Amino acid sequence: MHFALENELDLIRQTAAEFATSELEPNAARWDAEERFPREAIAKAAELGFLGMTVPEAYGGSELGNLALCVVLEELNRACASTGVTVSVHNSLVCTPLAKFGTEAQKQKFLPGLASGEILGAYSLTEPQAGSDAANQQTFAERRGDEYVINGTKIWVTSGDEAGLVLLYARTDRAERSKGISAFLVDRRDPRSAGLRIGTKEKKMGIRGSSTVELVCDDLRVPADHVLGKPGDGFKIALDTLDGGRIGIASQAVGIGRACLEASIKYSKERQQFGKAIGDFQAIQWKLADMATELDAARLLVHRAAWLRDRGERCTAQAAMAKLFASKAANRAADEAVQIHGGAGYTTDFPVERFFRDARITEIYEGATDIQRLVIARSLLG
Ligand code: CAA
Repeated sequence: MHFALENELDLIRQTAAEFATSELEPNAARWDAEERFPREAIAKAAELGFLGMTVPEAYGGSELGNLALCVVLEELNRACASTGVTVSVHNSLVCTPLAKFGTEAQKQKFLPGLASGEILGAYSLTEPQAGSDAANQQTFAERRGDEYVINGTKIWVTSGDEAGLVLLYARTDRAERSKGISAFLVDRRDPRSAGLRIGTKEKKMGIRGSSTVELVCDDLRVPADHVLGKPGDGFKIALDTLDGGRIGIASQAVGIGRACLEASIKYSKERQQFGKAIGDFQAIQWKLADMATELDAARLLVHRAAWLRDRGERCTAQAAMAKLFASKAANRAADEAVQIHGGAGYTTDFPVERFFRDARITEIYEGATDIQRLVIARSLLG
């Protein structure tokens, strides 16, 4: 067992860190203030191969896998959580399930464009009455000849308006609960997708550069050969996919937490009170020590879960543990970072104000904190 990143992973980490420092860090506050989707940054991330990390080489991806993706996501999120979530959702919630469950024709049709960044992916599971209770899908897909006609409303769709491909879940059998759900590949460039309308765009507390929209399906037509997996397998695909997604969000949390720690260390050395740098006070030192320790522990949980997933092993509980712990650690780090900065941390003059808002979502999306506890407890109790 060894804990250092292998050479190739460390090179990838350095590339991501340089990209984050030069392209994301100088712009992140502005994208947040203007609620502007970081389109140019996503295009540059694509050039570096960061949009095809879970796509097999045969379809134009780098096939580097989940551990490498975590390493990249930590670096991106350290600078800009809006870019970070966009890249995470694209790789872990769209490319991964397509590569894993797609037919040859589906993979050939979508994976090369996803890997190159020509199209962005979105994952659409949540509905007004299907949040934590994701199996309570009300959107209905009716089979008519060689296509499905879908009606209903989906919400909280990350990149929903930016995406060329939406992995959309809908009920195909009203008599069943989770076994009555199917997964659809909705090609937004296809004229039959005219029935997919972009609804409300959310005004959010944090990750304001990331786009979060409602999707209204009004006689949305999807060819029957665009069902991912078998009809009725949609919910299992959704949850298997979220095992990977949760590792991505846990990486996001580690990245935001690290940004909080690094900003706090810098400020503790600069800010003078009572004739010395505040970092000379034990009260500040203990905060920094706790932040660093929790973030290291979080990273180890994240890397373990990603390593298991890369080996093809079930990692449902480990992914939930990583997300639960990392998101809590990020929020504690953000809280302490604002405290260390005092009044300055409560203003937009310092980035910790943004980190504090961005950290909050990591406890909510891709399964709220208590859902992670539920998943972990189920694995313990059987
Ligand atoms: N992998 C594969 N299959 C799984 C699975 C997994 N991780 N977890 C469960 N399953 C299977 C179960 O074995 C079961 O199959 P059988 O009936 O054959 O045994 C089936 O799926 C149904 O599972 P449950 O009975 O456990 O289902 P449930 O209704 O009790 O729900 C839940 C479980 C854990 C609460 C689930 O609903 C859940 O995770 N809720 C949270 C939803 C969520 O995370 N939403 C995120 C939205 S996406 C988002 O936020 C993305 C974004 O844009 C950023």
